[in-house]
Amino acid sequence: MPGAPPPTTTVVRPAVEADLDAIVDVFWAVAAEGRWLGVEVPFDRRARRERFARTFGEESGTVVVADARSAGTADIIGFISVDVAVYGVASVGMALLEPWRGQGIGRALLEAALVWARQAGAHKVALEVWPDNSAAIALYERAGFVEEGRKVAHYRRQNGELWDSVLMGRALT
Ligand SMILES: CC(C)(COP(=O)(O)OP(=O)(O)OC[C@H]1O[C@@H](n2cnc3c(N)ncnc32)[C@H](O)[C@@H]1OP(=O)(O)O)[C@@H](O)C(=O)NCCC(=O)NCCS
Repeated sequence: MPGAPPPTTTVVRPAVEADLDAIVDVFWAVAAEGRWLGVEVPFDRRARRERFARTFGEESGTVVVADARSAGTADIIGFISVDVAVYGVASVGMALLEPWRGQGIGRALLEAALVWARQAGAHKVALEVWPDNSAAIALYERAGFVEEGRKVAHYRRQNGELWDSVLMGRALT
């Protein structure tokens, strides 16, 4: 079809150093939507890059990316980060660029994160999500997460609003 984008194959794979800027770009684009993530723009790109680098540079963490590579060139369109605390709970955070949502990529990223966390010795995976993020909550519930509680009027947004979050968890044992 004239004008159609070239075919791509989306793969889910561990991040490498060369992906770091693209991961921060995805994080920025999704944060800029203003309605899904705890972090708002503008944020300190360098500090965030270092944080991602630390996460996959340590045994207790990883970043898995969704790569819609075309003609052999990496094209990062989403990621999930996993950080295992000393007490055995893995915290996850994830984001996909808007055009790539609703195609099963989030589920593939989450499955990869669960496999990694189990292999890393975590006994549980935990996360926080805004109560109105129905796509994310549906994904998490389908993956076996249950609501464990809420933080009420906890997060102050740049516009002054105080948002609740839902705490969700899933045992790995
Ligand atoms: C949340 C997010 C990661 C989900 O990834 P995704 O690729 O869009 O989700 P998937 O296509 O893998 O869908 C996973 C499941 O959730 C369900 N789902 C997805 N989008 C949905 C929607 N808008 N409404 C209801 N259910 C939805 C699907 O039905 C699917 O279930 P199934 O596997 O049984 O069919 C993605 O939408 C995203 O990045 N959103 C913005 C950032 C964000 O919200 N991050 C999480 C912050 S806590």
